[in-house]
Amino acid sequence: MWIFTHGLASLICVGLIKEDSQEFIIKMLLDVGAANGYFSFYFESLGAERVVAVDLPRYINHDSPRWYLDKKVATLSSEELEEIDFHELHGGFIVAREILESRVEMRHHRVYDLAEALGERFDFVFCGSLLHHLRDPVLGLESIRDVMNPGAKLILSTPVDLTDPKTSYALFVGEPSLPAWWVPSPEGLKRMCRMAGFSQCEWITSFEITRKKEPKIVDIIGIVHVADSQVSDSVP
Ligand SMILES: C[S@@+](CC[C@H](N)C(=O)[O-])C[C@H]1O[C@@H](n2cnc3c(N)ncnc32)[C@H](O)[C@@H]1O
Repeated sequence: MWIFTHGLASLICVGLIKEDSQEFIIKMLLDVGAANGYFSFYFESLGAERVVAVDLPRYINHDSPRWYLDKKVATLSSEELEEIDFHELHGGFIVAREILESRVEMRHHRVYDLAEALGERFDFVFCGSLLHHLRDPVLGLESIRDVMNPGAKLILSTPVDLTDPKTSYALFVGEPSLPAWWVPSPEGLKRMCRMAGFSQCEWITSFEITRKKEPKIVDIIGIVHVADSQVSDSVP
């Protein structure tokens, strides 16, 4: 049996996470956009006390243009939609969790709903290759900040544009069949974090990944460490 895990940022992130692994001891850890749980299970294996993985409840909850989703959904029966939910969102995690005899907890929420839905805070958050799926990445980051404890750290990996790294901008992808809205420059990404209320954002590195499917588009993934000394008021 094959279990497909996105693990997009895997090689580099795993290296970085290993360096940070001291932080996982007795930590409450949140993996946002966890997909089939590649990183959630890895954090658990490093010794995180409790790992909560979050991904979408249903395929139709993707933050895609409304008209595009409506058009796609109109061609599918409810059984076909349930099948997509299982194969693209939930099935792989369930199987992997069972095989690994893992205690990782999966919750199905949109990133925008985290604070209300989870009602608790975490010491460490990983958000791998999710931000570009959001039409409002700053709101997504604000939501993540709302569930972080004071002094907690966020590792964020997302596609970036390195043409002019020191200038703040974000490319608008504008192609509905690609699940991407914004591709920021490194400076743009740092400012998004700042606008979301994080007081510290450190650029770590970037690396290339080439999609296996045609067209073989090369994405550049940037990684930042984000933290905040203060706590937002809207936390439960
Ligand atoms: C490219 S995968 C990344 C998986 C994994 N974090 C990694 O780095 O390999 C992005 C994941 O984010 C989830 N996702 C997309 N939009 C989301 C949203 N608005 N709220 C929560 N999760 C979302 C998708 O369902 C998908 O599983």
